[in-house]
Amino acid sequence: MVIRPSVNSAKCGGCLHCVDVCPINFARAEDGKARAVEGPFCAECGHCAAVCATGAIAHPGLAASGFERIAPDARLPYGRLLPFLKMRRSRREFKDERVPREAIEKLLAAAVQAPNSCNRQDVRYTVITDRVLLKRISAKISSDVLRLVRLMDHPAGRLFFRIFRRKEHQALEPFMPLMEAAAQAAAGGMDVVLYSAPCLILVSAPKGDPCGPEDAVYCAANIQLAAEALGLGTCVIGFVTEPCRGDASIRRMCRVPEGYEVKTSLIVGVPKFPYPASVPKLPPKAEYFG
Ligand SMILES: Cc1cc2nc3c(=O)[nH]c(=O)nc-3n(C[C@H](O)[C@H](O)[C@H](O)COP(=O)(O)O)c2cc1C
Repeated sequence: MVIRPSVNSAKCGGCLHCVDVCPINFARAEDGKARAVEGPFCAECGHCAAVCATGAIAHPGLAASGFERIAPDARLPYGRLLPFLKMRRSRREFKDERVPREAIEKLLAAAVQAPNSCNRQDVRYTVITDRVLLKRISAKISSDVLRLVRLMDHPAGRLFFRIFRRKEHQALEPFMPLMEAAAQAAAGGMDVVLYSAPCLILVSAPKGDPCGPEDAVYCAANIQLAAEALGLGTCVIGFVTEPCRGDASIRRMCRVPEGYEVKTSLIVGVPKFPYPASVPKLPPKAEYFG
């Protein structure tokens, strides 16, 4: 069922911004004001009511409390944004402290502000703070990596991969030095998967949804920035995302919701120390046309 917005013409100032943002559901009335029309589709994005300066638009599908006035100083000047972005580092060194539940809720409140396809907002967050479970996940993944490294190190294993698992071999080959280093460090007792972080967040989208990876990654990017703003550190952990895709036992262990696929994973913790400097990044590889 399409839940439709409506216009209170007594309040409408006739700016017609709603028609600009949603010509499917709004049109110009004869008196020059806006009127709602029965369009075939409403994504319930809320843009119509948010753009209305006079509060003339109501959307019965959306909570009025969600339409908060934007403070005039809410826009971050670029001169403050860029240094903030430069401040974010992938953090792998954490204090032995829990991330408070309220802080995690703040991260997720930032996550849901991300853009998403058709405004479906169907991204799931699996937040794991159970230390025992975190250790089990880490131990399982690092022992799998160790096994794979040993197999790929063995001439017969390499040959097997080259012949029978060609694609996997090609995909893994560039990561072998990293995996070998990780396997060595793991053998020395280090947690090379989750770095003993107190919190792991798996960000999932519906299986087979073509826009799912982007939906999830935009949300995760917001989590990373919000964490930075709260003085927390994060790191994307491909070592968790990949096994969650291919190994049902890890999916179960990580409590991935049925019907969803992990698109990205983040560890979160209280950083042990600050970084006094940013790191050099390559200039953008951009082509300009026009
Ligand atoms: C898709 C992806 C997967 C990653 N996987 C891991 C990982 O498994 N372990 C890890 O320590 N860092 C991982 N990282 C973090 C990168 O190593 C890090 O972003 C990169 O070195 C740049 O450092 P910076 O984030 O501090 O700028 C991953 C990053 C991305 C985007």
